[in-house]
This record gives sequence, structure tokens and C-alpha cells, in this order.
Amino acid sequence: MKNISASGGALERLKKIIPAGVTPKFSNVDEWRKWQEAEGRKRAAEVNELNRQARAEKILGRSGIQELHRNCTFANYQVHEDGQRKAFTMAKSYAQNFGTGFSSFIFSGSPGTGKNHLAAAIGNHLLKQGKTVLVVTIPDLMLRVRSCYDNGGSEATLIDDLCAVDLLILDEVGVQRESRGELVILNQIVDRRLAGMKPVGILTNLNHGELERVLGVRIMDRLTMDGGIWVNFDWGSYRKNVTHLRVVK
Ligand SMILES: Nc1ncnc2c1ncn2[C@@H]1O[C@H](COP(=O)(O)OP(=O)(O)OP(=O)(O)O)[C@@H](O)[C@H]1O
Ligand SMILES: [Mg+2]
Repeated sequence: MKNISASGGALERLKKIIPAGVTPKFSNVDEWRKWQEAEGRKRAAEVNELNRQARAEKILGRSGIQELHRNCTFANYQVHEDGQRKAFTMAKSYAQNFGTGFSSFIFSGSPGTGKNHLAAAIGNHLLKQGKTVLVVTIPDLMLRVRSCYDNGGSEATLIDDLCAVDLLILDEVGVQRESRGELVILNQIVDRRLAGMKPVGILTNLNHGELERVLGVRIMDRLTMDGGIWVNFDWGSYRKNVTHLRVVK
């Protein structure tokens, strides 16, 4: 009771300082308390999202999307041909429909064709919505796994963490010839995420047959079913468009 009358007094004081023309969101103590509770819940949800992203960033000791691709968006992706338009449309609709299912995506194609650009555009779109996203190359991932062993631990916690983020994008799959042990870990991560209905993005220079040899038929099937998408990036490198500085001697 004491609290309510105290709130009532505070409400009266508050009403006195509300400028003329401003309609308060409450007119009595009960409405005021409800408004405060709703605001509190909103703030708690915001803090929760921040904590989730901070936890995701702690896994690799850096932000989810590397500096190089931090500014890649759908808006600054240029379309010069039909293939790029298709890739753009598929990536954008993947981002917009994220969360309605758990479909994965595979971007396959030669260097410089914008696989990372569109993957980062998806990631940046989701980060803005408070989702957790990590893009990691296989060589980087394997370094982290090795450092877990070197520190006398196991890779189990790392794999648990990687399986908890909303979207995990594995980059440079097949760039190095993965060892048997590395393939087991890679399969374990993809398999566990898919079993837990968490999507995976894969960026690779390998074609369908080659990727199937790396990941195995079972995982390939699961990646491409349930609305999973395969996009071929089969145009020239964008990097040739970048004008290099000429050294004048
Ligand atoms: N259509 C595009 N519009 C604007 N920028 C692009 C486009 N395609 C690629 N880029 C830019 O070109 C650079 C190379 O692209 P990106 O890193 O995405 O290629 P990639 O397909 O991942 O290549 P790799 O197989 O070598 O990793 C990036 O800076 C990217 O932002
Ligand atoms: Mg790339």
C-alpha cells in the first residue's frame, strides 16, 4: 500500500512537470505501473539481444563479420547480368524469410564473384534484427580447434558455441585440402546444426560433385533439402573492376 501511495504522489509530481501539449501514456497509477513494466520488458529484451551478440563475438574474439565485409549490403551490390540478379534476389529473399524455416544456402563459384559480399549482406541484415551471425573460414576455424587442444582442452565447447548462433557461415570450404580429422569436425558442426534446425551458409569454389566429396552425400542432401538454396556464381571476378594504383617511377 505504501508503495502505491508513494507512486501516486510521484505521478502527481510528474504530471505537474509534463509540458502542455504532451499527452502522457498513462493517466492513473495503474496505467503508469503497466507502462513501466512494459518499458522494462522492452529494455530487458534489448539487453538480452546485446548479450547474445557479445557471446557470439567472444567465440572467435572478433565481430561476427570481418572488417573487410562489414560494409557489404544489398544496396551496394551491383547487378551487371542475369546471373548476378538471380543471386541477388535469392540472397535477399533468404535474408527476408530467415526464421520462417531453417533452410541453408550454398554459394559456389570462382574467386571474386561476390560470394562473401552477398553472404555478408545477409549477415548484416540479420545482425540489425538482433540475430547472431558468424562468418568463419575453415582455415581459421581449424586454427581455433587446434588452439583448444594446445590449451589442454577439447573442441567440444567451441563446437557447442558454433552450434548456438542463429546463422553460421562457413567460408573457403575446400580451399585447403582438409585432413581427415578436420573433415570429421566440419561434418560434426554441420550435422549438429542441421539436426538442431539451425541453418548453415557455405561459401566455396568447389562445384556440386567436389563439395559432395568433401561433406559427404548425407550432409549435402540435408543442406539442400527443406528449401535450402544452391547458387552458382558463374561470372567474371569483380576484383578486375578495381583500379589498381600505378606505380610511377
Ligand atoms: N556485384 C558486386 N557489386 C559490388 N561489389 C562487389 C560485387 N561482387 C563483388 N564485389 C566486391 O568485390 C570484392 C570481392 O568479392 P568477394 O570477396 O565477395 O568474392 P568471393 O566470391 O568471396 O571470392 P573468393 O572466392 O576469392 O573468396 C569484395 O570487395 C566485394 O565487396
Ligand atoms: Mg570469399
